[in-house]
Amino acid sequence: MRTKTVPDPTTIFEKSSPGRIGCNLPVADTPPVDWDTALGKTRNEVKWPEIAELDLIRHFTNLSHINYGIDTGFYPLGSCTMKYNPKVNERTAGMTGFVRLHPLQPVSSAQGAFEVIATVQDILKEVTGFEEMTMQPVAGAHGELTCLMLIKAYHESRGEGAQRRIVLVPDSAHGTNPASAARCGFEVAHVATDADGNTDLADLERQAKDNVAAFMVTNPSTLGLFEPNIRRICEIVHACGGQVFCDGANMNAMVGTTRPGDHGFDCMHLNLHKTFSTPHGGGGPGCGAIGLKKHLEPFMPGPVIKKVGSQYELDQSRPLSIGRVSGFYGQFLMAVRALTFLLAHGREGLPEISRCSVLNANYVKARLKDHLPAAYDRPCMHECVLTATPYKANGVRALDISKRLIDYGFHPPTNYFPLIVPEALMIEPTETECKETLDAFCDALIAICEEAKSDPDKLHDAPSTQIVGRLDEAAAVKNLDVTWKPPTPEPAGAA
Ligand SMILES: Cc1ncc(COP(=O)(O)O)c(C=O)c1O
Repeated sequence: MRTKTVPDPTTIFEKSSPGRIGCNLPVADTPPVDWDTALGKTRNEVKWPEIAELDLIRHFTNLSHINYGIDTGFYPLGSCTMKYNPKVNERTAGMTGFVRLHPLQPVSSAQGAFEVIATVQDILKEVTGFEEMTMQPVAGAHGELTCLMLIKAYHESRGEGAQRRIVLVPDSAHGTNPASAARCGFEVAHVATDADGNTDLADLERQAKDNVAAFMVTNPSTLGLFEPNIRRICEIVHACGGQVFCDGANMNAMVGTTRPGDHGFDCMHLNLHKTFSTPHGGGGPGCGAIGLKKHLEPFMPGPVIKKVGSQYELDQSRPLSIGRVSGFYGQFLMAVRALTFLLAHGREGLPEISRCSVLNANYVKARLKDHLPAAYDRPCMHECVLTATPYKANGVRALDISKRLIDYGFHPPTNYFPLIVPEALMIEPTETECKETLDAFCDALIAICEEAKSDPDKLHDAPSTQIVGRLDEAAAVKNLDVTWKPPTPEPAGAA
């Protein structure tokens, strides 16, 4: 079994020893700071750890190793596309000319930066089949929200703003879809998924009325399946006057192969921190670029970059624009990283990404089919959604299997999502993993499935090789307490 060395779990305060210091600086010739006033408490009350320099370095270096990330191991989190972020992206994003730019410097002196953004936008237009693109939104959910704001402005411009208050969302959708719709002031109605895992067309037809503002479709869906009726879906929604939004978080399955703009969508968002290999930012800074068709262009968030002669300018005079959706022009260094990735792969290389991501997911699905059946028995796209229901009779659930994977040295896949799949395990290997890694992961899952039958408690107690064992996750969320407290001294005379 693959296990990791258990890292040193002590905090820096437990390592503290009175009188130890790193180094002594010479006496400063600047005015002394009154600590008590600056901190609002006396220096003694703050209780700084006292520690030698070497121990301090070891402490923080070891802490940095505790973190699990794509650079340390396989990260099969479905729907999140945790693929390798090439280090060359960081080299270009760290170039002095880019990092020293100031957002307030004159546009004329930042022409190179605008050329980077405009070039990425142009490539993304070609990749997605949309006529317009903006990189202002700073996350996938922010891109969704921005698209819905555009759709709202579009309906308002046609005098239908008050009437079109419903946004349709598939029952398999990512939670950000209904959240974005609600945040934009719409009412959310769910469209059912049929027995094959596709949009239930009869249900969509029943709900497609003149009160519908939009249908938010994820393609490939969160079930990891390509929606084969996408043209028909667009026809139905357009016939009732609604707009069709594509949640493009799963673009890794299609990049370079097929274009949502050609399928009939009116707008879409992309997660540059997924398909285009910029880092996931834990809520930001990211980039949820959006693509749109011409009829939505007047409402685009401003300012819009445009080229006049040989110069880039910011077009501020946009009377119908929904306004800015982020400071300045979004997360500029994400554009630099994405451009590096796009140019490194080129037109010929991009289809290879989607083909390999689809191949890897189908390989995992095929290797696990006798142990963890697929929720829908058909070829998948970039991720496969499996179910752990066969082990329920042994008292084993998807969560137990996931936690046991940690003991085998792997990050768990996404659990219990999409909500319509019982005991869901959603695995997205991405194209950046090799066959050996996929085999090691599948071997671990197969071994765990055997344990689920022969020794279920091993799974219930997992993880057992980590500093922290099985948490009460509901309590951890509801009563989060991550503040270290010194241990209470034993009462004098206690054994
Ligand atoms: C299908 C889908 N849509 C939307 C999002 C939201 O993207 P972000 O996390 O960047 O806000 C995600 C994120 O995982 C997703 O998987």
